[in-house]
Amino acid sequence: MRGIVDRKQEIEELRALAQRAPSLGLLYGRRRVGKTFLLDHAWADMRHFYFLAADTTSEMNRAELIRELSEWSGNDYVEADFPSWRNVFRLLAQLAESGPLVVVLDEFQYLMGQTDDIVSQLVAIWDRELRGRPLTLVLCGSEVATMAGLEAGDSPLYGRPNWSARLRPFDYLDTRAMVPNRSPREAAYIYGVFGGTPRFLVTITEEDELAERVTETVLSPRGEVHLQLERLIEQEKGIREPREYRAVLSAVADGNTETDRIAAAAGLSDRTHVVIRALGVLESLELIWRERNFDAAERTPWKNRIADHAVRFWYRFVHKNRSLLETGEARRVWRQRVEPYLDDYMGKVFERMCREAFLRHHDRWGLGGALEWARWEGQDRSRRPIEIDLISRLDDGRLLTGEIKWSSRPIDYDVHLALQRDLEDLARSGQGWAQGALDPERSAGHLYFSAAGFSDHFHQRAAEAGNILLRDLNDLYVA
Ligand SMILES: Nc1ncnc2c1ncn2[C@@H]1O[C@H](COP(=O)(O)OP(=O)(O)O)[C@@H](O)[C@H]1O
Ligand SMILES: [Mg+2]
Repeated sequence: MRGIVDRKQEIEELRALAQRAPSLGLLYGRRRVGKTFLLDHAWADMRHFYFLAADTTSEMNRAELIRELSEWSGNDYVEADFPSWRNVFRLLAQLAESGPLVVVLDEFQYLMGQTDDIVSQLVAIWDRELRGRPLTLVLCGSEVATMAGLEAGDSPLYGRPNWSARLRPFDYLDTRAMVPNRSPREAAYIYGVFGGTPRFLVTITEEDELAERVTETVLSPRGEVHLQLERLIEQEKGIREPREYRAVLSAVADGNTETDRIAAAAGLSDRTHVVIRALGVLESLELIWRERNFDAAERTPWKNRIADHAVRFWYRFVHKNRSLLETGEARRVWRQRVEPYLDDYMGKVFERMCREAFLRHHDRWGLGGALEWARWEGQDRSRRPIEIDLISRLDDGRLLTGEIKWSSRPIDYDVHLALQRDLEDLARSGQGWAQGALDPERSAGHLYFSAAGFSDHFHQRAAEAGNILLRDLNDLYVA
């Protein structure tokens, strides 16, 4: 059994919450990000009762809760004595009379039935009958929109939670802590394929070859991660037309970034409003994120991208090959249709990793925090296509620029020369920020990321220049 990775801050805050009882907490986040695991670790040494609601009626859940509460407390509670949730909350308040008590109601959205309004009943008891008893109640749930709605201005619970948090998947470094014996490069591939979702990462065993693991758990239709990703969209209760959402995700994963192109690729050209709505919902689920060129004008359209690496891998490599995969050809799919394209796929993954690494390490690298972090894609005035991977406005206002290369061999100094030329071209083409990036007063220098490192010549030049930082995979993975 592995220990708990990260979540230190959440555990601290949850423990503090219990010290301030009576208190109410809200925890939400996508399925399998580790909510239950976290709650299970937070109060190990305190008196606590945990209930996992099932996807059934509110009444059946209440009956089950009463049964489990009887067992937990050693008292004989009879279901008939608890005809409504109000009675259940009253009982919990009473149980806290004899000493501090933490109660977790997990998958709380299943308790929010139509017929009896559990939230209003909770509020009634909370406001009038708790009388300072040391009860800590945590409502936890996977339906992000529903749970977040509990905090909204129109919810009866509004203003009452003393603590609330959205739990997110791990970043690249915490992901590595889940697979500690892998090399940095392997850890990066793992992050690229499985993302940072803990439940997906625990399927990776120590000994296995990565190719073998991905084939068995992600590609194979019986694989655990495969099955979970397949149902990802269906599991969101708020989504009524899963097929449309899948088509949108698939279109974005193919590299269509703007609404019209996504609509066309998804076969929804005549229903752009559906695409716009789907993009909004997927963004709130953090399955999609949006970016724009650095310094883009206010009305520039956003570019949509898949936010979760596992989801992107799924649509790029699994979904597309499902016929072959269904007929038991997972190994062949890996060899012929995944492995040869994996390094190309990793380019975008690595860009995200570098951004996450900057958040963690910028102090150590002698740089301020980033107010903005973006790319730039387009053409100069003679229509030469230009892409710059990294333009960041640091908190002192200076501009940091650089490139991010998922390389297999050390990269050379010409990358720096190419960036200089691009910046000069763009400055001449009227991009004001590019002028700033070239101005010694306004530039914070250059930061280059290369997975496989840099040539000696580049290292030498960087040392002479004094304003060029070079970072490879090992630098990213220092703890
Ligand atoms: N912080 C963590 N450290 C190590 N493993 C974790 C962590 N969070 C989750 N896991 C693993 O992922 C699994 C799924 O997490 P779980 O808490 O059930 O997700 P959720 O309740 O959000 O659906 C856990 O059973 C555990 O094996
Ligand atoms: Mg759970």
